[in-house]
Amino acid sequence: MRNLTVIFAAAFMFALSLVVSAQYSGWTVPAGAKDEKSPLAATPAVIAKGKTLFTANCVRCHGALGKGDGKDSPKDDPAADLTDEFRYDLNPEGVIYYKILNGHPPAMPAFADKIAKNDIWNVVQYVISLRKKA
Ligand code: HEC
Repeated sequence: MRNLTVIFAAAFMFALSLVVSAQYSGWTVPAGAKDEKSPLAATPAVIAKGKTLFTANCVRCHGALGKGDGKDSPKDDPAADLTDEFRYDLNPEGVIYYKILNGHPPAMPAFADKIAKNDIWNVVQYVISLRKKA
């Protein structure tokens, strides 16, 4: 009986993860990502390092201010405007982290092999710092 409960629980969790990933169609964002918190506080030094990484890896598509107007931004599927306030609720820090880590091929490359995991959190803090202050 206990085994059956475990199987049902596992099936339920799996179904739930499908629902969650459908919410971020095309992105690999695990269930629970939206509650994941950055291990790095948004200090000026953390954000400055994030900016350096953003300049090196992201500006060509997302533009210097994250508006999605970089020179390599695809014409038919432009890089997202990271300052668009309609995306704030959809993209808490944990979700931004996984979107950078896993990308959205082919439009947006994955950075898991290019930026160290801890450094991705620097980029997350920089991306959040680009948002218009309420
Ligand atoms: C080759 C161009 C390209 C590069 C380089 C790139 N991106 Fe993207 N990015 C995109 C495109 C295109 C999208 C929109 C994809 C979609 O939604 O289908 C996107 C979407 C995003 C999103 C999701 C926005 C949302 O609301 O869903 C985030 C966050 C993001 N990029 C951050 C970054 C960061 C940070 C970097 C650098 C580490 C980066 N991107 C590098 C093209 C790029």
